[in-house]
Amino acid sequence: MNRVLIGLAICLCFLLFLSFKSVNFSSNEISIDSLRAIYSKPSNQWPKPTIDKVIIYEELGALPSSPINLNDDSVRKIVELGKTLFFDPRLSGSGKISCSTCHLPNLNWTDGLKVSVGHKKAENTRNSPSIENVWFAKKLFWDGRANSLEEQAQFPLTSEIEMHQDMKVLPKKLNKIKGYKKLFADTYGVGKITNELIFNSLAIFQKTVVSTKTPFDLFLEGDKNSLTNQQLEGLHLFRTKARCMNCHYGPLFTDNEFHNLGLANYGKVNQDLGLYNATKNPKDSGKFKTPGLRNVMQTGPWFHDGSVKSIDSLMALYNMGMLVPSYTLAQLEDPLLPKNDRLLRGIMLSKKEINALVSFLNSLSSKPMEVQIPKLPN
Ligand code: HEC
Ligand code: HEC
Repeated sequence: MNRVLIGLAICLCFLLFLSFKSVNFSSNEISIDSLRAIYSKPSNQWPKPTIDKVIIYEELGALPSSPINLNDDSVRKIVELGKTLFFDPRLSGSGKISCSTCHLPNLNWTDGLKVSVGHKKAENTRNSPSIENVWFAKKLFWDGRANSLEEQAQFPLTSEIEMHQDMKVLPKKLNKIKGYKKLFADTYGVGKITNELIFNSLAIFQKTVVSTKTPFDLFLEGDKNSLTNQQLEGLHLFRTKARCMNCHYGPLFTDNEFHNLGLANYGKVNQDLGLYNATKNPKDSGKFKTPGLRNVMQTGPWFHDGSVKSIDSLMALYNMGMLVPSYTLAQLEDPLLPKNDRLLRGIMLSKKEINALVSFLNSLSSKPMEVQIPKLPN
């Protein structure tokens, strides 16, 4: 008799344990009121995200400010000069293309195209990324081939399909423009314009290009009604079931790393092996930089090749764990065969959950920062 009772008690405990365990904050089991209460706490008390053990993540957070101190007069002069250069088409070989041709301030500093169009209407193979918050990036370009903004500028300047400029000619060209000679002299106290000073000015200016506060930031600051119920569900899904936070984490929603989402077009004419091009390490084949997600709803078409035009298609891809292309036997032996990132899973979200996730992405949108388009010197 006693044994039967003990047995029953153990069963009961086990059932209780199971029912507690299943209250694991998945959004369809938790009421929206509790979700709001939980997420209204400081973010270090939010539920643990669904993240693989290998990942050392940082919690999502408020928009950080640019590291450039605009209260310093000498810095502000460099920023103004860099801005002028950024908008000046005379930096290109043809005199027609400026940095701002493909990074337009009113389009969140991208160009709205699938792939960019440059010198003599040449098409790029890649989509123009936004340069908002670019100061935060550890490596530049989709394939990380530049280590700093100072180093980055010469790529578009010299590229035949972008600005097609000869770097030996550029400083001579600018030295002939009186207004620039004066600007550089005022800013750097030197008589001669050099490529280094041009790169430095462009870099410092770009480090001031940031996004502005979003409803998500206001929510973090304590305005608990700035996220709708649906957005709140989306935030929870983003951090948990949808697994987005395995790669898009921290205040700028990026791990600053490179991953393979199966978008290398391996074996096709438009093959792009991404990070491998920069490192020549076969294990980097097909990896691309994780973009931040602030204003991402404004910067489509998406992915490094601009291949995805609608957010529904993008979500459908993630929902099935991205496409795994089929290969021939010979290709399977190729050390450069790109392998999809193990962090990707079929996440099996319902249509309602996808809508919530997209709604959350919309809460990361904000107006582009205001810029006065500079007057170009003569
Ligand atoms: C013809 C269009 C075009 C022009 C002109 C252009 N860019 Fe870009 N920019 C792109 C594209 C496309 C990429 C992505 C290329 C890649 O990853 O290989 C890019 C990438 C960048 C990045 C890297 C951003 C990141 O997150 O990694 C920066 C910074 C940048 N451009 C700044 C500039 C500056 C400064 C100039 C002017 C000197 C300039 N661009 C001119 C199209 C352009
Ligand atoms: C394994 C890491 C990883 C995971 C998990 C992940 N992403 Fe990404 N995400 C990336 C990388 C890398 C890219 C760029 C890939 C490329 O262009 O080749 C990207 C691109 C994107 C883009 C397009 C950005 C642009 O500027 O073109 C969006 C939107 C996006 N991810 C949203 C999400 C959402 C929502 C989730 C969760 C469902 C998610 N991501 C999960 C790594 C990841």
